[in-house]
Amino acid sequence: MKYYFAPLEGVTNALFRRTYDRVIGGIDAYYSPFVTTRDSGIMKRKEKSDIEPANNPGFKLIPQLLTTDASAFIQSSLHMEEMGYDEVNLNLGCPSGTVVPKGKGAGFLRTPDKLDRFLEEIFDRCRIQISIKTRIGFESADEFPRLLEIYNQYPVKELTIHLRTREEFYRGSVHEEVFQYAYTHSKAPLCYNGDVKTVADVRRLEETYPDLEAVMIGRGFLIDPGFIGNSGQTSDEKRANIFLDEMCKEYCQVISGDTHVLHKMKELWNYRKDAYENGDKIFKKIRKARSLSEYKDICYQIKSKKGEI
Ligand SMILES: Cc1cc2nc3c(=O)[nH]c(=O)nc-3n(C[C@H](O)[C@H](O)[C@H](O)COP(=O)(O)O)c2cc1C
Repeated sequence: MKYYFAPLEGVTNALFRRTYDRVIGGIDAYYSPFVTTRDSGIMKRKEKSDIEPANNPGFKLIPQLLTTDASAFIQSSLHMEEMGYDEVNLNLGCPSGTVVPKGKGAGFLRTPDKLDRFLEEIFDRCRIQISIKTRIGFESADEFPRLLEIYNQYPVKELTIHLRTREEFYRGSVHEEVFQYAYTHSKAPLCYNGDVKTVADVRRLEETYPDLEAVMIGRGFLIDPGFIGNSGQTSDEKRANIFLDEMCKEYCQVISGDTHVLHKMKELWNYRKDAYENGDKIFKKIRKARSLSEYKDICYQIKSKKGEI
């Protein structure tokens, strides 16, 4: 089974991926946070730079597109092909209130006939392989069989399923029964996504779905970086601390101003805190840090007291 790093907009940018790959590794492919298309098909400079192969050396990156416009998808995927990519991922899962009203991301699931026509056009006209990342429905999991029927008509490279509806955002437990349905009915190879956070979670998936192609993990890797690839040489905590220290160093080199670096580190700790029993207390301290030196002092306390802060 392959392990993918989920795309998390604002978090898993190129700098994050390079650092994660250097310090932790063990990832078969990283997905880029979504790139939105413009009518011209030209990407924004920042988004283009994030997926530029030179900024993602030594590991596999799959760029992701967010659009409802088939021509823009085709145009953008051509740019990606020119950059050397052989696969592009279509985002049908973003639940954001700024994306969904435009009918994009999970919003596209609300109009299955339109989605079908869009897929027909892009699969007809794109040479690049297309994979899909979808939710199981907009309002209800009952929408999934119809969606899968649509996906099954096309040569989807891989279908990643985040086992929640749009209405559920990231709340509540995942709809495992929908994955069982997909496992027996999907023509495309499947990738499981949602709440995989421990080695036991991964082992259970391997046992339950022996033909499963891949698992995509997001928050689990932010809470406990590299939990699947632990060689036993380094403790979970030490590994995570090294990673966070390296992220801080890297951000200091590219972001001017302590405040912005601090903001980025607080964002990472908002996930990492869940590795500690007293995570809320730890995060409260980190959130209150007003300078990088204050932040580093708190990290030092966490390390030296093994989280007893
Ligand atoms: C802050 C944040 C940003 C995200 N950005 C993206 C994105 O750009 N593209 C995407 O397909 N999914 C995005 N997701 C969803 C994740 O890729 C993933 O599907 C979700 O976190 C569930 O997996 P997990 O339980 O392993 O974290 C985002 C999630 C979060 C919390």
